[in-house]
Amino acid sequence: MSAPRARWVIGNWKMNGNRSANAALVKALVAGVSAGGAAHDRRPRVAVCPPVIYAAQVGELIAGTTIRLGAQDVCAHPEGAYTGQISTTMLGEFGVSVVLVGHSERRSMNGERDEDVAAKVRAALGAGLNTVVCVGETLAERDRGEAEHVVGRQIDAVIPALAAHPGGVLIAYEPVWAIGTGRTATVEVAQGMHQFIRERLAAGSAALHATPILYGGSVKAANAAALARAPDIDGALVGGASLVANEFLGIVDAFTPQA
Ligand code: PGA
Repeated sequence: MSAPRARWVIGNWKMNGNRSANAALVKALVAGVSAGGAAHDRRPRVAVCPPVIYAAQVGELIAGTTIRLGAQDVCAHPEGAYTGQISTTMLGEFGVSVVLVGHSERRSMNGERDEDVAAKVRAALGAGLNTVVCVGETLAERDRGEAEHVVGRQIDAVIPALAAHPGGVLIAYEPVWAIGTGRTATVEVAQGMHQFIRERLAAGSAALHATPILYGGSVKAANAAALARAPDIDGALVGGASLVANEFLGIVDAFTPQA
């Protein structure tokens, strides 16, 4: 029997936080994640992605714990004249081991195209980072019946990059209409798309069949347990609720399998 897929719960703080709020939040997360007795061993992998300027601060606060440090974006290039950007090597120097690529806010607000996302994915996986490729359709695309077409296109664009380093790959399905709106996809909709993504990945490269696929979009402690029961939902990428320690810890608990 093959090993079960890794489960992950990742907090995307987006452009939120400040030194004192970060300290209070991380202290509560460290206490919560470190507790838990026997359940501790079954916990999903947990990561937080603060604004990159706080990477050093958060890195110090989580040192020696199982919480991993993530970044919300990365540059595709190793160094040079790329004003405002951060390389994979720089992230690595500050202990970052997880990176989000192609978040819908970067696709829509920063003009990132599928090929830009693929270049970043190549760089991040090549640097040994756990790389979370974010995909998802807009409401207009879903209403036109194009959800699978759009997500399939986003997946196909990164398959060659993913296939080169399958071990570091994570996918996050985040329907744009569910992000920050309080409107979560139903478990049926999310599970259906996750199954579609899994089949698409496996069709692209057999090595990608065990890729963890996370759901994102208004995940909270209250809706996480139902999502966690779906067979192809391996974790969550959490925005708003990751800023509230009890909410985030409740989502971690929901993705912790029963003994
Ligand atoms: P949300 O954001 O949980 O606030 O909907 C999720 C995300 O954008 O990663």
